[in-house]
Amino acid sequence: MNCSRKGRFSGRQTLSVALALALCLGWNIGSLHAQTVIPITTGSNALVLEANKEKDLSVIYFGKKLVNEQEYKMVSSVYRQTGDYSEQLNAAYTPAGSRNMVEPAITVVHADGNRSLDLRYVTHEQKQQADNVSLYVITLKDPVYDFEVKLHYKVYPRQDVIEQWSVIRHTEKGNVVLEKFASANLYLKAQGFWLNQYHGDWAKEMQPEETRITHGIKTIDTKLGTRTNLFLPSVFMVSLGKPATEDEGTVLYGTLAYSGNFRTDLELDFQDNLRIISGINNYASPYTLKPGEEFVTPSFIHTLSDKGKGQASRQLHDWARNYRLLDGKGTRLTLLNNWEATYFDFNESKLKELLRDTKKLGVDLFLLDDGWFANKYPRNDDKAGLGDWQENKSKLPNGVVSLVKEAAKNDVKFGIWVEPEMVNPKSELYEKHPDWVVRQPARNEHYFRNQLVLDLTNPTVQDFVFSVVDDLFKKNPGLAYIKWDCNAVIYNAHSAYLGKNQGHFYIEYMRGLYNVLKRLREKYPTVPMMLCSGGGGRVDYEALRYFTEYWPSDNTDPLERIFMQWEYSYFYPAIASANHVTDWGKQPIKFRTDVAMMGKLGFDIVVSHLSAKDLAFCQNAIKEYNAFKPLIYQGDQFRLADPRKGSVASVAYLNKEQSEAVIFNYMVSSRYGEGSVYPIRLKGLDPAAMYSLQEICLYPGTKTSIDGSKQYSGEFLMKIGFNPELSTSRTSVVLKLQKVK
Ligand code: DGJ
Repeated sequence: MNCSRKGRFSGRQTLSVALALALCLGWNIGSLHAQTVIPITTGSNALVLEANKEKDLSVIYFGKKLVNEQEYKMVSSVYRQTGDYSEQLNAAYTPAGSRNMVEPAITVVHADGNRSLDLRYVTHEQKQQADNVSLYVITLKDPVYDFEVKLHYKVYPRQDVIEQWSVIRHTEKGNVVLEKFASANLYLKAQGFWLNQYHGDWAKEMQPEETRITHGIKTIDTKLGTRTNLFLPSVFMVSLGKPATEDEGTVLYGTLAYSGNFRTDLELDFQDNLRIISGINNYASPYTLKPGEEFVTPSFIHTLSDKGKGQASRQLHDWARNYRLLDGKGTRLTLLNNWEATYFDFNESKLKELLRDTKKLGVDLFLLDDGWFANKYPRNDDKAGLGDWQENKSKLPNGVVSLVKEAAKNDVKFGIWVEPEMVNPKSELYEKHPDWVVRQPARNEHYFRNQLVLDLTNPTVQDFVFSVVDDLFKKNPGLAYIKWDCNAVIYNAHSAYLGKNQGHFYIEYMRGLYNVLKRLREKYPTVPMMLCSGGGGRVDYEALRYFTEYWPSDNTDPLERIFMQWEYSYFYPAIASANHVTDWGKQPIKFRTDVAMMGKLGFDIVVSHLSAKDLAFCQNAIKEYNAFKPLIYQGDQFRLADPRKGSVASVAYLNKEQSEAVIFNYMVSSRYGEGSVYPIRLKGLDPAAMYSLQEICLYPGTKTSIDGSKQYSGEFLMKIGFNPELSTSRTSVVLKLQKVK
């Protein structure tokens, strides 16, 4: 084909101009000669790519890095190749329809209808973007078609985190259809792989499952459109060689930073190596790419640890707090929420009482939940009113503004619940704008919690959703917090706005949502916002650019929460986890509060129903929490005793100076009533330092059995351990560790 030579020649010309330009800009240009080796290195690891003399780009190594980078050149020679076919298994970004026969990262239909793609290495660049952040960009081109993919690897060496994404572009003489468009394509070598994945449902979020990966493809995906983590979250771990434990073994954590449909394929190939391909789910989403237009995929984030799951999680927490989570290095507001205290049944005077209770309890903010809006179809249950964001006149005759004022009088802040992406068919919004609603024009509507999703592909709808929140801030400048809910999945996916372009629906929905969130953050950069989704149906590292915290689950039974928060904590730092004390479960208030303190503390109870002792306990616990919360928010989290492996759970948060920690200990099973028979070993301490342990957050009138005057070496606490003295009458014990010398 003619365009082949032309494409290659003009490509080189462009390249020399780009080369000169890039050198001026200080970019580091990779070798253009045969066998280019590209080590993408973090503090501990190297992901090494190699372009052979045919310019096929492959992953040749991912593991602990070598001292001498020159030796990566020899990696290929020590692996035995078994036939021609094998070289394509480790492609750095596997194209479909040419020499590759395994699961592709990218599938296209060219402008002329041809379905084959081949991608060859052209050049690579590396740029230090900031301290501890460097970006590698590798350009791949099809030798036959004017089609290119730029692979991006953003590296955070101190956290051993790599973010990978792809930018796809062409200059063909017509549109190209992208049928698959992954963010990343990894390749791992080990003698056996174990996948730890998650599943769940409402109030049963984050249930782990670990299995050995067998040959063929295992797919973790969702097609729900919104609240996409509901049944299958996108986070996963892969252990190499043997199942990793908390402190031992090699483990890779991966997740797609994307709130829409995702898909991760884990393919154990016929040579027993693992190919991981992750990106936006291509389900019902063929994407028509115009000439010159860029398709930028979301990023796939991963971290590799050779010291077990605990270290991998601490790496990810550090990365998230420093580079991704909104206000990750800041603090958080404690709050009183009225959802479980009132549900939809409240009025101004009841809320004013709750505002006084907020002050009495000693938390920072009152959060008004669902039910405050809609008049024609009042929001008195979940069947009506969603979409009509005007204050309900009979519940709030003086508007939200009077509540914000009352909050200020009580010296507390005020926050409010919204669910702006959604609509009840029984609403004025639906009556006025049926074309703003995601629905199939010729089919019966199908509801999830009696509601439908608004069509965020439509810029007018984006403006509306933006204005729901913007108007609240404009009318109530004192508003200090937003809880953003999302209770429905997308049934009958169809956009009146997109017309014949329905293949773009799921992708454009997410772009629309991110547009709205971006606009809001430009105008209100720091107001804390909780990402809630009918419980924990939506949390990911793209959404967390805009949100300061997420709601893990509506299930606040503290026993269940110990398990759930444990699993979430592998992937998300405690500062982002909104944990509320409620009436769920049978545990005493101390147990419920202690569990909620392992994150961002909130309450969702009727304060006036608390006994005097329970109230005094809460008031004191909040004060103590305020003193130690920097440890929870910014400390290193160590999982000490796994609730799935015994009758005790124990988690510590230690500051970076190794001088202070808070340790939460629970009895999670009293089947045999044995309590903490064995000492629990601490982690991460300075072995030579001396420490004391003090019990804190005691229930009024109870005495501790922990001797706070004793001193232990860090070595003792890590090799022998401490005993929180849990028993059937001491089911929850919080200890403060302090370095004494
Ligand atoms: C679902 C959330 O998870 C709850 O916390 C509450 O805000 C309700 N929605 C309100 O409808």
